[in-house]
Amino acid sequence: MAKPVQVTVSSPTNIAVIKYWGKRDAKANTPINSSVSITINQRDLRTVTTVTASKEFSKDRLWLNGTEESVADNKRVLAVFREVRARAGDRVDSTTGEVAVKAADWASMRVYVVSANNFPTAAGLASSAAGYAALAHALGELMCYTGSLDELSAVARQGSGSACRSLHGGFVAWDMGAKADGTDSMARQVAPAEHWPELDVLILVVSDAKKTVSSTSGMDTSIKTSKLLAHRAASVVPERMVRMEAAYLARDFAAFAELAMADSNQFHSTCLDTYPPIFYMNDVSRAVIQVVHAFNSACGETRAGYTFDAGPNAVLLTRKEHTAQLLAAVLAFFPPSAEAEAGFVNDAALRAQAAKAGQPAGLPALLAKMAPLKGLVKKVYHTDVGPGAHPLDDAESLATPNGLPHAPPPPPAGATWGIQLAWALGLGYPLACIGGALMGK
Ligand code: DP6
Repeated sequence: MAKPVQVTVSSPTNIAVIKYWGKRDAKANTPINSSVSITINQRDLRTVTTVTASKEFSKDRLWLNGTEESVADNKRVLAVFREVRARAGDRVDSTTGEVAVKAADWASMRVYVVSANNFPTAAGLASSAAGYAALAHALGELMCYTGSLDELSAVARQGSGSACRSLHGGFVAWDMGAKADGTDSMARQVAPAEHWPELDVLILVVSDAKKTVSSTSGMDTSIKTSKLLAHRAASVVPERMVRMEAAYLARDFAAFAELAMADSNQFHSTCLDTYPPIFYMNDVSRAVIQVVHAFNSACGETRAGYTFDAGPNAVLLTRKEHTAQLLAAVLAFFPPSAEAEAGFVNDAALRAQAAKAGQPAGLPALLAKMAPLKGLVKKVYHTDVGPGAHPLDDAESLATPNGLPHAPPPPPAGATWGIQLAWALGLGYPLACIGGALMGK
């Protein structure tokens, strides 16, 4: 029996600073406008995916965060498989130098996919972006995809639009393209993360619940009912794309952050203009917006920006020299509940710096009428811009050599009854992934 072939990759999520909203063609998953994003550092948030191929497997299988999902019923997953198989290449064994799998043989080899996120799925943290980028990249590595990374991004796009921007690191544009088959609708790297290392990110988790209106169905209703969306795609985004790329390349923080805020606000306006309206932001999100604008006024310059995807969580943008001060403002207006206190910020050193830095002097007076909203921000992730999807060592594989998910590890020693129950219910595997990732493992 030929040995199964296995590859493990890690893929980042990304946050759009010019948003994609609306499909030109639902089948090809092409957008009505171009968009641009920063790639979030995988040190903090990532999806790991292990793919294993064998002639012995009778069907493709997929486990997501420890639970098996149907491949046959998932058109997006099927599209990614189909596209990678269509351009598969010969796989050469690195030790023997011999062809281990011929390009033509991939069509008859089935694949097991094991994938896990270290952050809440579908909570507006673009988990589908990381997930489909990881799937396309893992299958691409496994089957020795013969196209370029930009072309592979067009494959990831068919899983989820925003996923095409997660293959590259740094600052990434998704050019909408013009062809009906979507082959020119793909991502390109504008600049790597090293271009602007000062750029910093705080993610405020307002809710980790699954969103009520998926991006796909929200876009569909917006396309059908919002005139503002049509105007945005035709007349607003094209010039914003040019200005945004220029701001990033010039490392002009004020221009970058102001455009990101304006574009997030316009995206959420198109949601309100959709009939019936869609509400992704909530009162806490709007309070975050108020605090950021007051913070900038108190500083006398734009030191922070915000952007919100299809959920209430805030992504705050700043420069590393101002992160501690911004975090101090966040902690002053959104203090953690007593239960969330420990580990509220994933970066203890930054929290200590924030305590020293304090919020800007004039801020409390500007927000005198706003009482602190205790416990409404659940968690703060400090992160920054990082590299794109990349392969991992075999030691980080999520699967056995036969492609099946590793059995969940035993509950941690001294676990509370709640944790023991979670393990008994089969949640041990995702919890272990989350815990391991947050602890930097
Ligand atoms: C608000 O990429 O999740 O995050 O292509 O239907 O899977 P599908 O949509 P998806 O939409 C993301 C929308 C957004 C904006 C963005 O990321 O550009």
